[in-house]
Amino acid sequence: MSKQKIFFIVLSLSVLSIALIYQPLPENFPQPWKYRFLSFWAHLFSKLGFFAEKVNLFDRIHILRFLYYIFVGCFQIRNPEHHLKIYDRRILNVKVRIYEPEELANVDKMPTIIHFHGGGFLLGCRDTYDQVTYALSNLTRALVISVEYRRVPEHYFPAALDDCTLITYELFRNADNYRIDVNRIILAGDSAGGNLALVLTQSLLNDGFNPRTTCLIYPALQFFDFTLPSYRLYLPRNILGVITEENFLSVMSELSESKIKVTRDILFNNHTSSKDKKRLRPYVDAEKYLHISFPFDINQEGNENLISHLKFLISPKMSPLLVDDKELMKLPPILLFTTEFDILRDEGFIFAERLHSLNKTLYHHHFPTAFHGVHLLLYGPLKFDIAYEMIEHIARKIRENL
Ligand SMILES: *[C@@H]1O[C@H](CO)[C@@H](O)[C@H](O)[C@H]1NC(C)=O
Ligand SMILES: *[C@@H]1O[C@H](CO)[C@@H](O)[C@H](O)[C@H]1NC(C)=O
Ligand SMILES: *[C@@H]1O[C@H](CO)[C@@H](O)[C@H](O)[C@H]1NC(C)=O
Repeated sequence: MSKQKIFFIVLSLSVLSIALIYQPLPENFPQPWKYRFLSFWAHLFSKLGFFAEKVNLFDRIHILRFLYYIFVGCFQIRNPEHHLKIYDRRILNVKVRIYEPEELANVDKMPTIIHFHGGGFLLGCRDTYDQVTYALSNLTRALVISVEYRRVPEHYFPAALDDCTLITYELFRNADNYRIDVNRIILAGDSAGGNLALVLTQSLLNDGFNPRTTCLIYPALQFFDFTLPSYRLYLPRNILGVITEENFLSVMSELSESKIKVTRDILFNNHTSSKDKKRLRPYVDAEKYLHISFPFDINQEGNENLISHLKFLISPKMSPLLVDDKELMKLPPILLFTTEFDILRDEGFIFAERLHSLNKTLYHHHFPTAFHGVHLLLYGPLKFDIAYEMIEHIARKIRENL
């Protein structure tokens, strides 16, 4: 082949791959080409997974988890200069990874962060979150207990919550056995993990235990209104290639005991009855709390099939925002971090506004150029600078509140 031909082929392939990977992104988007590259592969693998599952080749979830692992899980730092003792164990048969700053070796009552990872109840584990939990412990100099709970599709709701409840109550009840200062425990989590952290905080408070602070990083707070502007805007954008409509519907289905096939109807809130809508809308009132004019059809009757199988989605055990002000009043100081490029952006803002209107102590920081999931990408070739900025900011606020 002549040199010109080779040149032409290489050029065409490059143009083709750029065209494939290209997606329009907002201005100020951090490291947009790295993001596009990452999203492209994640999206491709996700699609491949659906296909493989259809032809009974293998379960889609394995490929997604594998990809997650090679993107973040395998870039673990272990630097002796950070003086952390790190080990895995089980507590009441729940897997945890513990990060103990060495200077706490002789301390009986350690300040402690109980950390719940994100991943849509589907992905995430001790390994894929190691970068985050390591940095948190290193930067806050607190004991970090990273909880690995059961996930879908192997285990449906409320398996994850059950695991987190079991271990958290154990740590509160028997804090002395673990050298934990029961008055200085922070619950922390992102996304699905933020959801678990808030649900657990509410449950602990009602049982007489007092977390010092609860730290929520782009948490999932409600499964009631999927027509919020951030859902409408960003679900079609396939954030990180995996927060897609297809994956979203699939997780909703896997969370349910009946594995009901969840249709796009849910995106129009057909999973709630008109009665539910009237009862719960005040807790997620976009018009009131986001100060926007917002069409919400309170009389829409919904789809009987979805309603009966997805009731659990609107219980406070799954949607901690769907509680009245009396419940919110009990909360400890909340640290809330949101990002712009995120389907969960608006529920974060609604939560912040509700706490504000109750004069509750809240620290809310919005990262206007960041995207959902970015704080995991701390080291390795896929590192985003904003991720380290975020974790430093979060760690600083935790230190101030621990
Ligand atoms: C660990 O903490 C030290 C001291 O605060 C800091 O210089 C270093 O960048 C941190 N490393 C990581 C990976 O968090
Ligand atoms: C679901 O919602 C859409 C949009 O509001 C509506 O047109 C449709 O009739 C609903 N479907 C069912 C089965 O209730
Ligand atoms: C919050 O504080 C304002 C100003 O001090 C006060 O007017 C309002 O009644 C308070 N709201 C609640 C729910 O306590």
